[in-house]
Amino acid sequence: MGNVTVIDHPMIQHKLTIMRNKETSIAGFRRLLREIAHLMCYEVTRDLQLEMVDIETPMTAMQSPMIKGKKLVFASILRAGNGLLDGMLDLVPAARVAHIGMYRDHETLEPVEYYFKAPSNLEDRLIIVVDPMLATANSATVAIDKLKALGANNIRFLCLLAAPEGIKRFTEHHPDVPVYTASIDSHLNDQGYIIPGLGDAGDRMYGTR
Ligand code: PRP
Ligand code: URA
Repeated sequence: MGNVTVIDHPMIQHKLTIMRNKETSIAGFRRLLREIAHLMCYEVTRDLQLEMVDIETPMTAMQSPMIKGKKLVFASILRAGNGLLDGMLDLVPAARVAHIGMYRDHETLEPVEYYFKAPSNLEDRLIIVVDPMLATANSATVAIDKLKALGANNIRFLCLLAAPEGIKRFTEHHPDVPVYTASIDSHLNDQGYIIPGLGDAGDRMYGTR
């Protein structure tokens, strides 16, 4: 699968198994998603460019590396994206945040948009779009269309689980956007849920049905 990285670190896979378990509590699910976001954040930011800056330690002057360029943007597809967002912000507290509100219509599986707010200068920034679930990929595809329409040209997509059908659609529509996931599951069922999956991520995070 072309532009797709499966992050198969044992810590992530272990925590993901607990998240998939239907007996895991809401609090546990939320905590694990945040912890996995820390681990995945390392991988998705692994190749960021550094630049040397002048500083003074208590002992001497030195040049030392810092991340180059404008602040990163994390773009969260609401609601469930916020579970990954919180963990990403733990590691990169100065990141800017875009919120993209959309939910899937249960009949059509098309995203219904209800909110959009993004930082300025998207054309100069790396944007990491986060959503735990890539099912049909309708939501992620539309979300990234909107970011590109505002000038974004350096985008990565981070999810927890992906369906093969969603990866195919996403990579065909956005071949320039690398996908990072912890698992590519078996397939989508007739209702567009990922199998074996973990159920409805938003409901499991927030205790709704
Ligand atoms: C879930 C998930 C993705 C979307 C994935 O959100 O968080 O945004 O479904 O499905 P797709 O790839 O087929 O578009 P949902 O619509 O359930 O909204 P929620 O996060 O508010 O619960
Ligand atoms: N959205 C979810 O939350 N879970 C799925 O399996 C598919 C879409």
